Amino acid sequence: MVKTIEWKDNKVIMLDQSRLPIDVAYIECKDYLMVAEGIRKLWIRGAPAIGIATAMGIALAAQEISATDFEGFTKGLDPVFNTLIATRPTAVNIQWAVDRIRKFLDAGKDEPIAGLKALLIEEAERILAEDIEINMAIGRWGAQFIHDGDTVLTHCNAGSLATGGYGTATAPMLIAKEQGKKFQVIADETRPVLQGARLTSWELMQAGIPVTLITDNTAGALMQKGEINLAIVGTDRTVLNGDVANKIGTYTVAVLCKEHGIPFYVAAPMSSIDFSIPTGNLIPIEEREPREVTHIFGTCRIAPEGVKVRNLAFDVTPARYVTAIITENGAFKPENLKELSRPDPDLEKLRIRV
Ligand code: MRU
Repeated sequence: MVKTIEWKDNKVIMLDQSRLPIDVAYIECKDYLMVAEGIRKLWIRGAPAIGIATAMGIALAAQEISATDFEGFTKGLDPVFNTLIATRPTAVNIQWAVDRIRKFLDAGKDEPIAGLKALLIEEAERILAEDIEINMAIGRWGAQFIHDGDTVLTHCNAGSLATGGYGTATAPMLIAKEQGKKFQVIADETRPVLQGARLTSWELMQAGIPVTLITDNTAGALMQKGEINLAIVGTDRTVLNGDVANKIGTYTVAVLCKEHGIPFYVAAPMSSIDFSIPTGNLIPIEEREPREVTHIFGTCRIAPEGVKVRNLAFDVTPARYVTAIITENGAFKPENLKELSRPDPDLEKLRIRV
């Protein structure tokens, strides 16, 4: 597995995913502004990965703050939090990482500032390590839905590149493979920036999982022919009522699955569930620059100059299309997320088992 992001020699090293699979190149971010630029420009992308990048960006910024008292130190971090939160609005993991670091700082307010700076690096690295564990747990709960002979559809990239390792939607595939199951994957190319073509098919080929790449508008035809058994996707923000925001086109896939009686699963680490938002229509949806649609790879124009463009990066799939949400704590019906938001939910009672 290639490394998506790591902390090394007081720098954040990220794989430049915008150049994959043509080039495998790493970028050294020396300050948090470069980390923010990397998130904005999709050098690093995928909800959990940008959560990790946020925590590392904060740790980088903290090293530069000269204040020696707690108040001055945390005040110095405020613009850092705001800059990182403003990079991409849909993935809740950025806000989640900022909230976690804020709480961490509050708990350590009696530490000397030099100690806190070192602890922030440790905390960012802990978030990365935990993410890998979470992915594997998602994989263990999700593998039960993949059977011998299945064809699994996935959309965008919710693979190891989108996380600290293993991925969310791809984790059940990797675990099912380890369990000896024989199945194949269909990857939607995922216009406009082609995460499915460039990243998911690349990753799955390296993992030795048979993968076939299709254009986004082929999925319905394959379902009609009975060639897809289940779909597994990731999420940028899933909310209290079970509505799911994910890469644009996910809603279309979910509706098609319902029409064809195909189960539609969402792999969602708890960090991407936003219990503070009651319904999906309140999720902020990122709209990106027209150039992603009018050009391929930012260089080759495919549309007339001056054409009007809408470039929504995400859509919201209503909970009624979702068969189950697979978290690190188990797989649950979307309508049971409310129960999960309460203190000490009876997980065993709520878990779906095949
Ligand atoms: O715009 P992207 O590439 O960041 O979009 C990524 C997705 O939509 C993923 O499915 C989602 O972040 C989950 S990643 C585990």
